[in-house]
Amino acid sequence: MNLIVVNHYEELSQKAAEIIEQLIQSHPASILGLATGSTPIGLYQELIKRYQQGAISFEKVRTINLDEYIGLAEDHPQSYHAFMKKHLFDEIAIPKEQTHLPNGNASFLDEECLRYERLIEKIGPADVQLLGIGSNGHIGFNEPGSSFSSETHVIKLAQSTREANARFFHSVDEVPSHAITMGIASILKSKKILLLASGPSKTAALRRLLQQKKEEAFPASVLCSHPHVTLIADREAWADLP
Ligand code: F6R
Repeated sequence: MNLIVVNHYEELSQKAAEIIEQLIQSHPASILGLATGSTPIGLYQELIKRYQQGAISFEKVRTINLDEYIGLAEDHPQSYHAFMKKHLFDEIAIPKEQTHLPNGNASFLDEECLRYERLIEKIGPADVQLLGIGSNGHIGFNEPGSSFSSETHVIKLAQSTREANARFFHSVDEVPSHAITMGIASILKSKKILLLASGPSKTAALRRLLQQKKEEAFPASVLCSHPHVTLIADREAWADLP
């Protein structure tokens, strides 16, 4: 694992944007695996800035997101469709048909999972998959105990994940109980993985990640078996780690 420790969140966002900028400059038709949550927001702002400055174009880029809640309308402010539109897609002139998220309102969720996995196979693998990390070690919404061989599937969210995400809703009861997520095996198909961790709530998860002990009880531990992972952590997340 390639490790980059930076001083603060702004630097983390800039460093991550540099990596994606270089990728798009060398491969204008790059496939980007994207994530939601608080961590990538600064990176998305940096990408928007670079797009506005003319340094990168998203005309040929295709994106494929990790996950989506089940049961929120696409235009619900907390749906991941709405998140991606607000924080990135509406600002970078990317054709809508080149952006992909699971449909959390599909009538037949198993079929939707299969469709999404086939899509990953068809347009993927991602040149780079962006990941945040849950304080319980989840990646995507693969909660502790998820099989390392899982493909896109429906997952029941851990109570700790619902509580962590309650900050975006009026109360924890409003946080959906289930989501569709790329599986661990789907994520590992990506050519490169860019894992971002910011803030003190991520230190314990990073400590466990660095133990390199692969166990389904800690989903992010699977990353030690991927050949091209870059972890960017800020000082607050890194704390006193070696
Ligand atoms: C988001 C996702 C999640 C988040 C993780 C960290 O699409 O799949 O795994 O990356 O929950 O979230 P933040 O960045 O809000 O701490």
